[in-house]
Amino acid sequence: MTHDTPRHIAIIMDGNGRWASARGLPRLVGHRAGADAVRRIVEAACELGVKVLTLYAFSWENWDRPAGEIRDLMDLLEEFLVRETPTLHKQAIRLRAIGRLETLPESTRACLARVGAETAAYTHMTLVLALSYGGRQELVDAARRLAEEVRQGRLRPEAIDETRLAQALYAPDLPDPDLLIRTSGEQRLSNFLLWQSSYTELYITPTYWPEFTKASLEDALAAYRQRERRFGRASALARASRG
Ligand code: IPE
Ligand code: IPE
Ligand code: MG
Repeated sequence: MTHDTPRHIAIIMDGNGRWASARGLPRLVGHRAGADAVRRIVEAACELGVKVLTLYAFSWENWDRPAGEIRDLMDLLEEFLVRETPTLHKQAIRLRAIGRLETLPESTRACLARVGAETAAYTHMTLVLALSYGGRQELVDAARRLAEEVRQGRLRPEAIDETRLAQALYAPDLPDPDLLIRTSGEQRLSNFLLWQSSYTELYITPTYWPEFTKASLEDALAAYRQRERRFGRASALARASRG
């Protein structure tokens, strides 16, 4: 069974540090090369007809990294947003962010808010940056929101079902990811989109993120098209043999 281009692709952009150390370079150089890869892949995804691209750019657990590296990452992010705004306009890409955004530095939040507002009307593709993001934290935040509604008498506990919980997540209007790509070979989710990826197809490549190109993305799409998405149902083969 084959399908079309995934509507929503999520990427764990990993391996900037290892890419740099393999070249005897500081991690910052790896993160810079990673930002160049982001630019490339945003354009490529848009050209390939992807509707939503979610990039894991900074996890909740990444706050445990050295302060200098965190500062470098936030500076790079702001630099990226300023430099990429014309491309977002040109390609009609809407920018959004998910995560505990209130924990980001003030200047980063201002930058995100400005570019988000400027591009809010675009519908060609939505670029979602996961920042200060953790899947467990997102579920905790959703539980708190629902509990608050219950406390105010606006929600009955029995009325909480999958749909209601999903509505309390950071971006309830977006479809679940069809394909989740992780670069640099690690076979784990690292707290990314835990709720949303229950039936997402996983694609892991040994390629370090700074070396991930449009051709790499096309390879991932080709692999995705070969998958049979069953969502718990019987396989196509079993259904065919049953007649
Ligand atoms: C991904 O690269 C970028 C972030 C997590 C912010 P890493 O910095 O994790 O690179 P490695 O995993 O050490 O190679
Ligand atoms: C996941 O990468 C987070 C991002 C890509 C932003 P990490 O490098 O933080 O994940 P672990 O520590 O290898 O699981
Ligand atoms: Mg890593």
